[in-house]
Amino acid sequence: MSGKVLVLGATGNVGRPLVERLHALGQAVKAASRSGQPVAGAEGAAFDYRDPATFGPAFEGVASAYVMLPTGYMDPVGLLVPVIEAAAARKVKVVLQTALGVDADDAIPYRQVELALERSGTPYVILRPNWFSDNFLTFWKPGIDHGVIAVPAGEGKSSFIDARDIAGSAAAALTSSRFDGRAFNLTGPEALGYAEAATLISQVVGRPVAYNPIDDAAFVALLTGAGIGGEYASFLASLFYPVREGWTAGVTDSVEQLTGRKPIALGVFLKDHAAALKA
Ligand SMILES: NC(=O)c1ccc[n+]([C@@H]2O[C@H](COP(=O)([O-])OP(=O)(O)OC[C@H]3O[C@@H](n4cnc5c(N)ncnc54)[C@H](OP(=O)(O)O)[C@@H]3O)[C@@H](O)[C@H]2O)c1
Repeated sequence: MSGKVLVLGATGNVGRPLVERLHALGQAVKAASRSGQPVAGAEGAAFDYRDPATFGPAFEGVASAYVMLPTGYMDPVGLLVPVIEAAAARKVKVVLQTALGVDADDAIPYRQVELALERSGTPYVILRPNWFSDNFLTFWKPGIDHGVIAVPAGEGKSSFIDARDIAGSAAAALTSSRFDGRAFNLTGPEALGYAEAATLISQVVGRPVAYNPIDDAAFVALLTGAGIGGEYASFLASLFYPVREGWTAGVTDSVEQLTGRKPIALGVFLKDHAAALKA
């Protein structure tokens, strides 16, 4: 493809493996973060969602862009729609990452961003990943260190997806026009409950890790106690309602359609990251 690929959130869970994959494919990449430092051998680009003056320079020389919202931000419409408008004004193709299930209701903010992209007239692909396997290394790691994963998931199962598979899917969508105009629900290969995940983690770390199915209020108290803002903690709690209802248990073949490979199972993800889980 002529023109560079702009990767937003390039030092993040999906962004970094995406930059690495595009680089390995020989694709010229602009790796965007607030610092603008190079990432994994790719040229850096200074970009801040809250500062539209950074958009023009970041989009210069760009043919396609990976657009996502970093963890912790609460306003997908306010932060992402201006980025999509900037891309569309330059006829830049957008691969947008939202989340599984956001198409259930057009009033959901992420769905409004999807609709804005669909109406923008610029080529696009939408990727809706399920819960990341990587959360066991980030959000749930302090609990794992204390032998407990405490989340309000009830007995619900999720087809956890490895960020490397989201990155691989994004790389395919960014470097080919075959998938343009479509939305893909990205999942891992099997649905597991948090008790099953805890058993797999116990085996990898070599000590007991249990699942404690707490309620929303206890979860919010746990997160705010760990320094997470109350509004974001309540938002995260609300994301477990679909899990308890069984809506995150579906398995799709989207990763295989996009990448030609089966997605990575949670057990394999955990073994690949055994050292980080034990640290
Ligand atoms: N975790 C899940 O289970 C899950 C499931 C489905 C969907 N999602 C969606 O995935 C998104 C998170 O993806 P992720 O985990 O890959 O992201 P992430 O790791 O949280 O992204 C962090 C990246 O964003 C950059 N960043 C942070 N603030 C910025 C700002 N103001 N301007 C520009 N760049 C900024 C960071 O770079 P600097 O700090 O260096 O600027 C870093 O590169 C969430 O919005 C969520 O909706 C998550």
